[in-house]
Order: sequence, then structure tokens, then C-alpha cells
Amino acid sequence: MHIYQFLLPWYLKNKRDLPWRNISNPYYIWVSEIVLQQTRVNQGLEYYNKFIARFPNIQSLAEASEDDVLKHWEGLGYYSRARNLKHAASDIMNRFDGKFPEEYEQILSLKGVGPYTAAAIASFAFGKKHAVVDGNVYRVLARVYGIEHTSDSSQGKKIGFQLANEIIHPNEPALHNQGMMELGALVCTPVNPLCEACPLSTVCFAYKHTQTDRFPLKGAKKSIQERFLAYAQIYTSDGFTFINRRGSEDIWAGLYEFPLVELASRPDSELQILEKLNEELNLPESIVITNIHGPFKHILTHRHLFGWFVSVKLSEDTAFMPNKKWERIPVDSLTEYAFPRLITRYLDSEKKD
Ligand code: ADE
Repeated sequence: MHIYQFLLPWYLKNKRDLPWRNISNPYYIWVSEIVLQQTRVNQGLEYYNKFIARFPNIQSLAEASEDDVLKHWEGLGYYSRARNLKHAASDIMNRFDGKFPEEYEQILSLKGVGPYTAAAIASFAFGKKHAVVDGNVYRVLARVYGIEHTSDSSQGKKIGFQLANEIIHPNEPALHNQGMMELGALVCTPVNPLCEACPLSTVCFAYKHTQTDRFPLKGAKKSIQERFLAYAQIYTSDGFTFINRRGSEDIWAGLYEFPLVELASRPDSELQILEKLNEELNLPESIVITNIHGPFKHILTHRHLFGWFVSVKLSEDTAFMPNKKWERIPVDSLTEYAFPRLITRYLDSEKKD
């Protein structure tokens, strides 16, 4: 008896109807998988549709400006994924004559494409027998086979990859992969899995030993980094403001932000934030601070970010010479630039006031 004999009938009966299913266009599948590495299906749908509408094929993505691509990724986070998409699209134009490569190894050679995404594209678009192992699939495998390793350990990765490729349906790899992912998403959930409704419960190690809460094994908690960011939104009297494009070394690479001072520790008071901004941004004497908002929190897996926003008005006769790196732009063109979610949330809250 093979796992897929239980899995496939269950999948065909219970699958969600998602736009990238029942299609074989590798470009659509690629974009959907990269979007879904960033977010859940419900939110991902909206980004996927927007992205495909603006960049309908490999060529249009290759020819787009990086700013345009980042703008369509705004809010999803992990912007290197968007930059890699664009880079890989150009690569496909150059190396593969604009035609999406069909072999697993070729797909894997594209920037930003790892074993998971390569297997997803190879199986969904080209029917190749390569198993996908994402978090959902690993959880199913760890429970069914009782894998005594965490998903991020080298042993866990190796065993998961080997097992997944051993049990994959020889003729229906796409359905098999989708089925494993769907089972992990809908039934074999991290907490309170729905074992009564699971097609694999009769062959599941964890279910048999009432240990679904022990599998998959959990690693030690990683420490959380905190960062404290104070932004100055500087308004000139003639309707301009200043923004800065972030470099490539840190988070939010290539996105825009307001002039920023990063504090070494959590500020004790708003006064401390204002003093720091004055000191480090060389703001002129005659400024008027109109308000300060924050902290806006942005919680990532291993990082907690806190942002404060200080609005500063320059009076008419201020000859303010900002930092050479900053760009002076009309306030009403702010929406044309891609900002991190922390900043768009602040801008949205301002609009509501
Ligand atoms: N999550 C990641 N890829 C997915 C897919 N192809 N279908 C459903 N959920 C997914």
C-alpha cells in the first residue's frame, strides 16, 4: 500500500480551488510559489493577481525597473525575493531565449530558486517527478514516519527530502505534491490536527502513538533582536519632503524610508527621540515639531522592530541642506515609492486622521 493511494482521492475531493492550480504556465507557478513563501494563501492571492496583472510574462518582468517590481511587492516583506524574481527573469531571457527551462537542475540554477521551488515548478508545470518539501510537507512526513529530527537540522532536511522522493506517485507527481501540501495546510495542522478526518491516520506513527504534539520535533528557541527606529518626516514650506533609499546590506534593501536615526536601546521618552534626531540629522534651529507617533511595531520571526515618526516643518526662510544621499520629492508623490510595511502603516494611519 502506498501513501498516495490514500492521499490522492482525499486531495481530489477536498482541494481548494486556487488560481495557480489547473494551470501549467511555469511563470505563473513560479510567481505564486515565491509569493506564498512570504504569506498565507488568502493574502497571497491578492498579491499574486496584482503581480501577474502588471507583469504578465517573463519578458515584462525582465524589462521592468527594479523600483516598479519592488512597488508591487510592497508589504510582503523579504524584498530580496522580488529582486531575485526580476534578476531570474532577465536570466531566462538571456540564457534560455525567454523560454522557462524545463529541467530541475536548470530551474534550480535560477537566482532565488531553491530545491522546494524548483521541485514545485518542475512537477506542477512539467509533470517531473520531484518531491516538494516545505514546512507543511515536512510536518506530514515527520508525523507519519516519526522523524526524530527537527526540520531545520541537516539530518531532518536530508531524511525529509529522501522520504518525500521515495513515496512520490510515479505518474502523478503534481497531484501528489499538491496533496501533501494541502493535507499539511488543512488537516495535519501544527496544533490540533484533524486526525479523525485524515486519510493517513491508519498509517501514521504519531497518531498511533498519540504523539502528534511531539512531531515534528521543535528546535531551541532563537533569540529575538529588537531595533528602535526614529524617522523624521520633514516638510518644506513648498510641499516637499525627503526620502532615502536603503542600501543593500540590511533589511528592507532597496526600499525607501524617511531620514532615520537608529537608537541603541529602547527610548525612555519622546524627548530623547527628538534630541537624537536633532543631533544626528542636523536639523535647523527654526524647525517646528508638529507631532510624534509611535511606536509602530513590526514583528518578524527573529526580529522585533519599533518605529517612531516625527513630523518636522521647516519655516519658509530655512536654508536647509539635507544629507546629499536624500531625495527631495513632492509630498503627494510619496505613494509612488516602495516603503517597508512599518512605514506604510504609519502613512495609512495619517491618512485616516
Ligand atoms: N503554499 C505554497 N505553495 C502552494 C500551492 N501551490 N498551493 C497551496 N498552497 C501553497
